[in-house]
Amino acid sequence: MSASRFSDTISAALTNGILVVTIDNAPVNALSADVRAGLMAAFGHAENDGNVAGVVLTGAGNSFIGGADIKEFGKPPVEPFLPDVIARIEAFPKPVVAAINGAALGGGLEVALACHRRLAAPAAKLGLPEVKLGIVPGAGGTQRLPRLTGIAAAIDMIANGRIVSTAEALKLGIIDAAASGELIAEAVADAKAAIASPIRRTGSLTVQPEAPEAVDKAAADALRKARGQRAPAEAVRLIRLAATASLSDGLAEERRTFVELRDSEEAAALRHVFFAERAAGKVEGLDAVTPRRIETVGIVGTGLMGSGIAVSALNGGYRVIGVEQTTEAAEKGRERITSLLDKAVQSGRLDAAGRDDRLSRLTVTAEMQELAKADMVIEAVFDDLSVKTELFQRLDDIVRADAILATNTSYLDPDTIAASTRLPERVVGLHFFSPANIMRLLEVVNCKETAPDVLATALVFAKRLGKLPIVSGVTEGFIGNRIFSAYRREAEYMLEDGALPQEIDAALEAFGFPMGPFAVFDMAGLEIAWARRKRQAATRDPNERYVVIADRLCEAGRFGQKSGRGWYAYPDGKRTVDPAVTAMIEAARAEKGITPRHFPADEIVARLLKAMAGEGEALLSEGIAARASDIDLVMINGYGFPSSKGGPMFAAGRR
Ligand code: 3HC
Repeated sequence: MSASRFSDTISAALTNGILVVTIDNAPVNALSADVRAGLMAAFGHAENDGNVAGVVLTGAGNSFIGGADIKEFGKPPVEPFLPDVIARIEAFPKPVVAAINGAALGGGLEVALACHRRLAAPAAKLGLPEVKLGIVPGAGGTQRLPRLTGIAAAIDMIANGRIVSTAEALKLGIIDAAASGELIAEAVADAKAAIASPIRRTGSLTVQPEAPEAVDKAAADALRKARGQRAPAEAVRLIRLAATASLSDGLAEERRTFVELRDSEEAAALRHVFFAERAAGKVEGLDAVTPRRIETVGIVGTGLMGSGIAVSALNGGYRVIGVEQTTEAAEKGRERITSLLDKAVQSGRLDAAGRDDRLSRLTVTAEMQELAKADMVIEAVFDDLSVKTELFQRLDDIVRADAILATNTSYLDPDTIAASTRLPERVVGLHFFSPANIMRLLEVVNCKETAPDVLATALVFAKRLGKLPIVSGVTEGFIGNRIFSAYRREAEYMLEDGALPQEIDAALEAFGFPMGPFAVFDMAGLEIAWARRKRQAATRDPNERYVVIADRLCEAGRFGQKSGRGWYAYPDGKRTVDPAVTAMIEAARAEKGITPRHFPADEIVARLLKAMAGEGEALLSEGIAARASDIDLVMINGYGFPSSKGGPMFAAGRR
């Protein structure tokens, strides 16, 4: 065996007549300029060296290739270009086998598709998730994948950015085999066996004919989920093209579309979101901190929120002890958790064995003492200060001294709750969003006394739950509800000044929110916010502008969808403009002597973005949020802000 190096990131070793080329570009073997140049050099060498009968291409570490180097987007392109590297591999005169050792994503799968054969480790992940970055595959993915899988399956994967396992990739015909033992040795043997046979090049295959209905259905499903984003629609168009155009025409059209989308606002926003998510995981001061070990999680309260949290914790592999006040309530809690798991089975998100495994790790009891076994206890009881402080004081006497206590409050001051305990340093806030088993966002509240290892543990816990944890300091409503309050306030000012709820909602929905604010208020119910406003009435600054319209709605028994009417009426469950609401708004304006004026959609969006970004700046200057991009992630993942607009801080900065 002789080893050689072709660039800083590409090395190769000759094994049994096969050149094993390894990409080593930590952290994910992205296809940076040095990788592309090194691959060209390695293939040049392999072609000319008579001792090389074939090539195996693999990645060092956990990834095969994580895709094009996203950090190079927006910079002047550097040769060799990826499509040229890929064309070189596909046309290579000796057999080339991809040994897919880990993630083969985006450009990484495109490289694999150009190889003549593909073997994957059982735990590998394969996909073309480019649409999640607002782009389409740019190096042959839309043309080569359908040549292996057919058009409908390629649309399902590419237009949804869906990543598949090795087992599914094998079923779909994307790979030739799953490795059963030592991947590289098997790939070398595979390449040797291929020497005698004609080379099968993906690009020269023809797309197999299939039922047009299947293709139309796959396209319609993907476009429905895309909510007006461009990349999925363009991906569908390009994949369909693979059935009719030559490879070179298809590749040219794909590249043209890729470059156009890569330079779009939508792609810039989604790249921002990608890097924002990676940055959010890095919390200052926690580098050298060892998190505590958590295996058993106690959850006090198994209502709507508690049962969702329990399912999340079970999904994360934890043992869960749910606690209720009575045996009957405990039984109901167990039923709620079981029914959430059953729903996951019905929707195909979970199989029956997974459900049983989760239930085997669940206890729901009326015995608070059981929490002595817990490494962390999360309270999900009624959002009332005395209820929560009394509970934490009781827990102080039950749980181990090193167990963590987490409060799921949305609006109370967790510092006050912590101060009521003997060890405030073990208290942290975990603000889940409802439904807690589905929503990805989790605000992790770093209280005044929270110990660094407690915060670090909360972050590890959140990630194991598959959540996106964002650290927030203590403030009323934390990051998300503070920004949402500013958004609500501004929407109400515009309402009073002349915009109608349906105009504001339409403007926000056209911008990309699934629902405008008034439709959201109706869905959530108006009474909780009303009760809070009544509580705050005595301490409100009389000079601050106050819009009474929401109060008037509540006084008239309009509490939102649940009561059949709120900002809208809901005949047959359908959101409908109600002239009675318009009359109430007009009356409130008249009382203040306001002459209403028209608000164009653009102004509505601009005003709301400015209000959110302004509140975001305040959160940054108060040290509540660590970075602007954290605020963007909270609003995208918890409040329906469109990810294709990058979040309020990003969007406001682009105007
Ligand atoms: N380019 C540049 N940097 C990348 C990258 C990429 N494609 N993928 C990941 N990184 C960086 C991350 O920013 C992070 O950097 P940091 O440590 O400085 O914050 C680091 O690699 C580790 O990333 P993760 O924390 O995400 O690592 P994981 O191990 O959890 O996940 C992964 C690895 C599954 C590969 C995941 O990083 C991922 O999904 N990456 C993006 C995949 C993707 O979208 N590829 C398509 C790119 S576009 C393309 O290929 C266009 C082509 O068609 C021409």
